Amino acid sequence: MVFTGAGISAESGVPTFRGQDGLWNEFRVEDLATPQAFAAHPKRVWEWYSWRRELISRIEPNPGPLAVAKFERFFLSFCLVTQNVDGLHDRAGNERILKLHGDIWELRCVSCGLSRIDFQAVLPSLPPLCECGGLLRPGVVWFGEMLPVDVFEQAMHATESCDLFFSVGTSAQVFPASQLPVIARQRSAYVVEVNIEPSAAAYEAHEVLLGKAGEILPALAASLQGAMAGLGRGKVHQPSFPRTRESSGGT
Ligand code: APR
Repeated sequence: MVFTGAGISAESGVPTFRGQDGLWNEFRVEDLATPQAFAAHPKRVWEWYSWRRELISRIEPNPGPLAVAKFERFFLSFCLVTQNVDGLHDRAGNERILKLHGDIWELRCVSCGLSRIDFQAVLPSLPPLCECGGLLRPGVVWFGEMLPVDVFEQAMHATESCDLFFSVGTSAQVFPASQLPVIARQRSAYVVEVNIEPSAAAYEAHEVLLGKAGEILPALAASLQGAMAGLGRGKVHQPSFPRTRESSGGT
């Protein structure tokens, strides 16, 4: 299982939320990323999301997301869970992606509920309107809103049953997504964190690989590909990572 956050898109030029140059240093969550802010100022909220859509439309996936797409091809049993709304994992080639916080390219009507994907970097008018006349909102999960139940349940199931769990480029500060590394560890998965600095969940990891995701993940993918070639296998049928350490009465 690979669990990602904003850090995996950082090397493509997508700002993260916290840390240096994080969006929340410059913008106030309560002004832009809550249902209340949208109800009060739909145009202002849309100007911010439009700025982010326009920015994301001009960039390409970096080697980090590209390596995760390779992982999906390596393992028979693979699951990608992301907090990111930027769509970079889709563009990198991952097919099965559980998007916990929605998708910035989705537009959803607050009146009739109609939802559609719209990749226009700049929308003709802000706020955009639905054919029913209702307001369209970005298809993302705002603070104070529930995560999509089916998606979260699938993510929990994958977390509870995975053997190997990568936590990549997330500060692990936003609940309930931040619980996934904790649950993976509790369920005896081998937990590996990839981050430029230890996250709030680093203590749950068996290994913390400090560095850029765009450098570490391709190296991991290359060594995995080499290992599989050595095993004469196209795909890994079972984890070749040392789970025995955990099953001998570990934590
Ligand atoms: N490689 C690996 N990790 C990186 C890189 C990089 N190149 N650059 C930054 N990071 C790490 C940072 O050290 C930090 O731990 O990525 C993390 C980004 O953390 P946040 O900005 O908090 O983003 P994220 O964890 O995804 O936030 C969770 O919060 O604001 C909400 O809905 C939003 O989905 C988001 C959620």
